[in-house]
Amino acid sequence: MGNGIAQVAARSGFDVVMRDVAQEFLDRGMTSIDKSLQRDVDKERLTKDVKRSIIERIHTTTDLSALSEAFIVVEAVTENFEVKSEVFKTLDRLTKPGIILASNTSSISITKLGAATQRPEKVIGMHFMNPVPVMKLVEIIRGAATSDETFEKTRGLTEKLGKLPLECHDSPGFVSNRVLMPMINEAIFALYEGVATRESIDGIMKQGMNHPMGPLALADFIGLDVCLAIMNVLHDGFSDSKYRPCPLLKRYVDAGWLGKKTGRGFYEY
Ligand code: 3HC
Repeated sequence: MGNGIAQVAARSGFDVVMRDVAQEFLDRGMTSIDKSLQRDVDKERLTKDVKRSIIERIHTTTDLSALSEAFIVVEAVTENFEVKSEVFKTLDRLTKPGIILASNTSSISITKLGAATQRPEKVIGMHFMNPVPVMKLVEIIRGAATSDETFEKTRGLTEKLGKLPLECHDSPGFVSNRVLMPMINEAIFALYEGVATRESIDGIMKQGMNHPMGPLALADFIGLDVCLAIMNVLHDGFSDSKYRPCPLLKRYVDAGWLGKKTGRGFYEY
C-alpha cells in the first residue's frame, strides 16, 4: 500500500520520499505506480508529461535518515506490532520533533504505537484502502494521546490528497476491519464447511449485495496473511470467540497461499 500512498501524495503535488528495506521492493513499488498512472494516460485523463512529473516527485531510498526533513511520515510496514513499534521508535529519533508520525495500520493500536515514541500526541492512524489510488476513504484513528491539532492537520492533509477522512477512535480493527473482516472470515467458514463453492459464495455477495468483489476474491486481493493478522488482533483485543480465525484461513497462510501477491489464494492468478 506504501506505493499507492506515495503515488497519491505525489499526484497531489507533494515531494515524496519512499523508503523500503531493499531496492527490489522500491523497484516493484515504482513499477506499480507506473502501471497505475498509465491507466489514466491510456484513458486520456493524464498526459505523459504530467505522469513523468508525478514520478519525478517520488524519490526512493533504503536509507531511513532520508526522512529527517519530512513534514509528515506515513508508515506502511508489515502488519506486526513489534516491527511497527521499532519503526516508530526509530522515526521518533530521526525525524524533526514537531512532525506527525502516521500509521497506515489496518488494526494495530495507535495508542500503543504512540507510547513507543516520545511524542504520542503526534501519532495518528491514517488507514488508506486498497487500491489506494481508487478508494476515497481514509479512516483517521485517534490514539488515547493524539492531540486535536494532530487530528485537524491530518484531516486537512487527507483532503489535500483528494480523499475523504472519516474519524474513529482507537479500538481493535477500528471500524473498517471490525466490520469487513468478520464478513470475510465467515465467507471462509462457509467454504470450509462446504456450504457453497468459492464461485457461489462470491457470486451471492456480488450479485445479491452489490459488492464490487466477492469476499473470497477480496481476501485474496487484501492478502490472506493480512486478513489473518487482523482476525488475530480482533480475537486477542476483544477476547471474544466470535472473532476466531477460520482454520482454512490459517492453513492457506501456512501453505504460503497468500492471495494475489503469491499467485494463489482462494483463486489462482
Ligand atoms: N490504480 C489506479 N486505478 C485503478 C487501480 C489501480 N491499482 N485498480 C483499478 N483502478 C481503476 C480502473 O482504472 C477503473 O477506473 P475507471 O472506472 O475510472 O475507468 C476503476 O478503478 C475500476 O477498475 P476495473 O474496471 O479495472 O475493475 P473493477 O471495476 O473490477 O474495479 C476495484 C476494481 C476498484 C478494485 C473494485 O473491484 C473494488 O472496489 N473492489 C473492492 C475494493 C475494496 O473493498 N477495497 C477495500 C479493501 S479493505 C482495505 O484496503 C483495508 C485493509 O486494512 C485491509
